[in-house]
Amino acid sequence: MTYPIAVRSALVMWTKTNVPELSKVSVLMKQRTKVEETLRAMQHAGAGNLQVISDFDMTLTRFAHCGKRVPTTHNILDHRILIDEDCTQKMRALLNFYYPIEIDASQTSEQKLPLMVEWWTKVHHLLIQQNIQRDMLAQAVRESGVILRDGYEVFFDRLAELQVPLLIFSAGVGDILEEVVRQSRVFHPNVHVISNYMDFDDHGVLRAFKGHLIHTFNKREGALLHAANLPELQGRPNVLLLGDSLGDLTMADGVAQPHHLLTVGFLNDQVEERKESYVEAFDIVLVKDETMEVPNGVLKFITSGGGHAK
Ligand code: TMP
Ligand code: MG
Repeated sequence: MTYPIAVRSALVMWTKTNVPELSKVSVLMKQRTKVEETLRAMQHAGAGNLQVISDFDMTLTRFAHCGKRVPTTHNILDHRILIDEDCTQKMRALLNFYYPIEIDASQTSEQKLPLMVEWWTKVHHLLIQQNIQRDMLAQAVRESGVILRDGYEVFFDRLAELQVPLLIFSAGVGDILEEVVRQSRVFHPNVHVISNYMDFDDHGVLRAFKGHLIHTFNKREGALLHAANLPELQGRPNVLLLGDSLGDLTMADGVAQPHHLLTVGFLNDQVEERKESYVEAFDIVLVKDETMEVPNGVLKFITSGGGHAK
């Protein structure tokens, strides 16, 4: 079949930005055209100009599996080889009180911020009293039921193959996060982690948490303090950002002179209440989508163009 020139070029444009995964029913986009323009620009610049910044809990890990919530890195610590029954009860009470605040659509990040500091501080204080042994963390992870989103291997492996840095930026527990990624066999050399790391004494017993506390709504500070100085991320002005909280949007604030930023938000919980704010804030919103299909499709598109790898 032959088409007039105008139709032909429209078809070329369409096929050029065709990411079939964006047609999934789970996908919401306020400005599809803008997303497509950004995708084309990022594809043109290629893998050599790209970095990926991702949240961990409930972004790279699944939200639920077989009707059960998948544990966050903090919740993986809820194992009898690490903490006692009393600590479990107290951590659960704190979760039940503060988590609804974290995801409350009627409060601003500024309003939530001091309460998040309170939550994390109380939990870390409880954990420090438990004499947690570093040697026991791997077993706790193995027995926790934690699971990364379907298609995670493709995501991690493709980034490694193309030598695109993946910065995992988490308000969870770094030691646990690393163990989850290691046990999933995807801790490739291009993976960098910014998170709350445990500080162990000479006997391998938890005594404190290192550095500045990272919680869901102060990732901007962490980005400016840590990510901005990571040499592997320099000279890569295009960012694919993945998160599940509005606070995750500030994870790219440490990128010097960003050219193109494409944000993907997983909307896991309180869908109706939060849909509007997520669609306003993220370029692509994935509603109750437990897979990496869309990030993988986007990544395949961006990295399959003529842009040169470094
Ligand atoms: P993230 O930045 O990797 O998503 O990690 C932060 C998540 O951890 C956040 O959504 C709340 C969750 N969390 C718990 O599940 N239990 C806890 O005790 C704390 C302090 C946080
Ligand atoms: Mg998260």
